[in-house]
Amino acid sequence: AFNLRNRHFLKEVDFTPDELRYLLRLSKALKVAKYAGIETELLAGKDIALLFEKTSTRTRSAFEVAAHDQGAHVTYLDPSGSQLGHKESVADTAAVLGRMFDAIEFRGSQQADIETLAAHAGIPVYNGLTDDWHPTQMLADFLTMQEACQKPYADISYVFVGDCRFNMGRSLLVMGALMGSDVRMAGPTPLLPPKDVTELATDIAASTGARITITDNPTAAVLGVDFVHTDVWVSMGETKEAWAERVRLLEPYQVNTELMVKTGNPSARFMHCLPAFHDTNTTVGAEIMTHTGMTAGLEVTGEVFDSPASIVFDQAENRLHTIKAILVATLG
Ligand code: CP
Ligand code: NVA
Repeated sequence: AFNLRNRHFLKEVDFTPDELRYLLRLSKALKVAKYAGIETELLAGKDIALLFEKTSTRTRSAFEVAAHDQGAHVTYLDPSGSQLGHKESVADTAAVLGRMFDAIEFRGSQQADIETLAAHAGIPVYNGLTDDWHPTQMLADFLTMQEACQKPYADISYVFVGDCRFNMGRSLLVMGALMGSDVRMAGPTPLLPPKDVTELATDIAASTGARITITDNPTAAVLGVDFVHTDVWVSMGETKEAWAERVRLLEPYQVNTELMVKTGNPSARFMHCLPAFHDTNTTVGAEIMTHTGMTAGLEVTGEVFDSPASIVFDQAENRLHTIKAILVATLG
């Protein structure tokens, strides 16, 4: 019933709510088939370029394994491994890759760059993260929430606490609006979602029935939710200098046991797109925590991250099944 062949996925609103629900059903079917060992290869002979201006563990791995499971081949172009950005423009790169590949995944800072890529490639382009949006992550997040609470998308309630101006906050706001969910965004006033994103979400909500709350009050925002989401306080591409001010602003929004209890929902789950700073076991995490005097974690405490409420690794696995659905639907 849904033909998504040759479609781009640059941001959540590129698909209608019905098309997003179809992609989520397909993700589930592909996950079941893989678990049962009965997956069929629908992408034999396809070649997919993975173009990364920034580093990645999950997104790259999900595209590679999804393509391999489906019989397709990938070429990984790492942040320094192509002419893009220094010797060749985005438009020329797009034209060249379009002559050789069947699709392109791109991760970089500027949404304008992925729009240019899509305009000149002549083949489907998928957004593997820009500063503005993380649309492939949204399919994984919604599949994970649905599996965890078994409710229709429209009955799911969740909060995002943290820097609501960046990719994860923006995407969770708009995706929730598209799916008709109860969406709450909580952060300090300077880090609340920008006006254009709030207006977009509010407009969509008027037709989907989504309930949208934007507040600087974390206690009010978390009350009754099924899921508490957060993200790193300083994203890739931001400078180290951002940390001190960000920690000062966001400390009241840390996801700790106290905040989880304030949901009033004993089965509330914790979600994070990862990577997360929950302890000092990474060099960057250790440096920031030492520097800012935070001892129990940054955006999330180790206690919550390691608790039974945490479903972050189910969420990470679902990147694979949902990215596979995008590939199958647009190229299969
Ligand atoms: N969540 C996510 O996009 O992870 P990576 O940066 O490892 O791809
Ligand atoms: N907001 C984070 C998400 C990483 C998947 C970043 O942009 O670095």
